[in-house]
Amino acid sequence: MGVQFEVKRVFLSPERKVHVEIGSGKGQFITSLAKDYPEIQFVAIEKDIDVCYRIAEKKVLYELDNLTIINLDAVHLDMLFEPKSIDQIYLNFSDPWPKKKHQKRRLTAKFYISVYQRLLKPGGIIQCRTDHYDFFIDSMDTLGQAFHLENVDFNYPITPYMTEYEEKKRASGPIYQLRGTLNHDSPTLS
Ligand SMILES: C[S@@+](CC[C@H](N)C(=O)[O-])C[C@H]1O[C@@H](n2cnc3c(N)ncnc32)[C@H](O)[C@@H]1O
Repeated sequence: MGVQFEVKRVFLSPERKVHVEIGSGKGQFITSLAKDYPEIQFVAIEKDIDVCYRIAEKKVLYELDNLTIINLDAVHLDMLFEPKSIDQIYLNFSDPWPKKKHQKRRLTAKFYISVYQRLLKPGGIIQCRTDHYDFFIDSMDTLGQAFHLENVDFNYPITPYMTEYEEKKRASGPIYQLRGTLNHDSPTLS
């Protein structure tokens, strides 16, 4: 089973945890996790079909039955999952869209956060890692409106779970990471 296209709904076992990475690129991060945590269901969402195939190569190589790869623009994420069905969302080196007029496209913009609020389970977690300082600071602000930010790290150390982009970017400066737990007292962002 390789890349899935034109998926309307992803069907997941309610008994197992669900972790979703949005914008997986070539998939080193999510495939490493899927290899080490076979009990978790992982879903990679990636809009570029060419890099989806790179994730699929790793899925086949490591025989990852617990990884679903979906070729989709995250703007349609809402239709893919049942509400309150995801335990954790990963945003790794998301496009920073530095120009003001493009910032609505960021995966940490309010539109996307409102989707994450609907799809995450109570106590659900978001993890955002980047090398882009301004994107990180702005994302702390928007994510902080819906999540309790618990771990905010301005010099995140090397771990066994790194994306291809992270491996490259570590040579030129610090890596930033935050993790937050869904705040149920926050209104849905609009
Ligand atoms: C800068 S790359 C980082 C890739 C990977 N996360 C890494 O760290 O190596 C951003 C990736 O996100 C994907 N992407 C950007 N916006 C997306 C969206 N709205 N929906 C799905 N994928 C998206 C791009 O196609 C690209 O592969």
